[in-house]
Amino acid sequence: MSTPEWLESWSDDDGARRVRDLFDRSFGPDGGAADGVWSAPGRVNLIGEHTDYNAGLCLPIALPHRTFVAVRLRDDDTVRVASAQTDAHWEMRLSDVVPGEVEGWGAYVAGVAWALQQDGFPVRGLDAVVDSCVPFGASLSSSAALECAFAVALDDLLGLGLGGDDAGRVRLAAACIRAENEIAGAATGGLDQAASLRSRPGHALLLDCRPELGALENAAPIPFDVAAAGLELLVIDTRAPHQLVDGQYAARRASCEEAARLLGVPHLRAVTPDGLDEALATLEPHDADGVLRRRVRHVVTETARTAEFADLVRAGRVAEVGPLMNASHASLRDDYEVTVRETDLSVDSSLAAGAIGARMTGGGFGGSTIALVRADEVEQVVAGVQRAFEEAGLRAPGFLLAPPSAAAGRTA
Ligand code: GLA
Repeated sequence: MSTPEWLESWSDDDGARRVRDLFDRSFGPDGGAADGVWSAPGRVNLIGEHTDYNAGLCLPIALPHRTFVAVRLRDDDTVRVASAQTDAHWEMRLSDVVPGEVEGWGAYVAGVAWALQQDGFPVRGLDAVVDSCVPFGASLSSSAALECAFAVALDDLLGLGLGGDDAGRVRLAAACIRAENEIAGAATGGLDQAASLRSRPGHALLLDCRPELGALENAAPIPFDVAAAGLELLVIDTRAPHQLVDGQYAARRASCEEAARLLGVPHLRAVTPDGLDEALATLEPHDADGVLRRRVRHVVTETARTAEFADLVRAGRVAEVGPLMNASHASLRDDYEVTVRETDLSVDSSLAAGAIGARMTGGGFGGSTIALVRADEVEQVVAGVQRAFEEAGLRAPGFLLAPPSAAAGRTA
């Protein structure tokens, strides 16, 4: 069997050095060094999948893997960005940034500047570079990490005063979400940006996405000390190619909205587990193929599982969350239908090799799975998954460990 590949995170010093060097190579000759370095983490969602846009509960942590940016403000309104991951510079004037008109990955950067400008802040152009150890396309929110790194950079450089407390970070997260929804054109729900901007080291963040909740009531940090329980959170990047991701995500969202409309409720959170059977019966005449009922069953049961998971963690019973993770995966596979062969195999082989719970994480259709593993059995689980992928003739997965890490902020 080949040696498993570990996807290591970078230290702050290493990340800062990389982007400063890249900045000097890309923009230095024009006018000096970057004004500073900022970074933001990717996230892994412990449980509560496809619940954020249904006003439900989710429970992410910030990864130790971060996206680093070095930024220098300009006096005009041009945004120029270079990335270690692509050769081409991305350039656009802020005045040309409008929904539907921005192409390429720079949309995540310009979109944040645009959203802050829409909020009335005096945003200017910038020269910037990006480098990242957040695995790309692995449902670990590399795009949210990019947005949030720029959000804290602009906040700092323009003196907006938002990054210093949770209320301000809620506003930065809202700007990042608008950048993603309106400029990058991905109708995602907000979980990723909240995780990247509002997480705390050693904690999971219980997000309650009901729109009527105030900004500060909708997130509660919960100590999540897997190491103290003798466990590790193992993340497995299955490297399954994402297919039809945007269309499928939008289709899931549309089904949930359609079901809520038929049920006469503002969102599916309004359906409680006790009211689920009645809701399913109401949908039946409108739902010949059963799709709406399966989607609703997932959303309602997933929020209930997330509440139970959070209660167990709060009670210091993290070793007991395994069955909830497994049930979440089964629901995402059978009712929400967002898993693929690779994510199912990763979960099944993790459990067969001794994990106490496993599930896909993020939007689905490929991407990563997580497994809660006894600390002295990590190698054995990694070997089991690696072997299962090899035997199935699949591309080797990547592995990383995920202690709950820090939110976005200034790095250097
Ligand atoms: C993606 C989206 C999030 C959330 C998850 C599924 O990560 O960006 O908003 O909907 O999928 O839980």
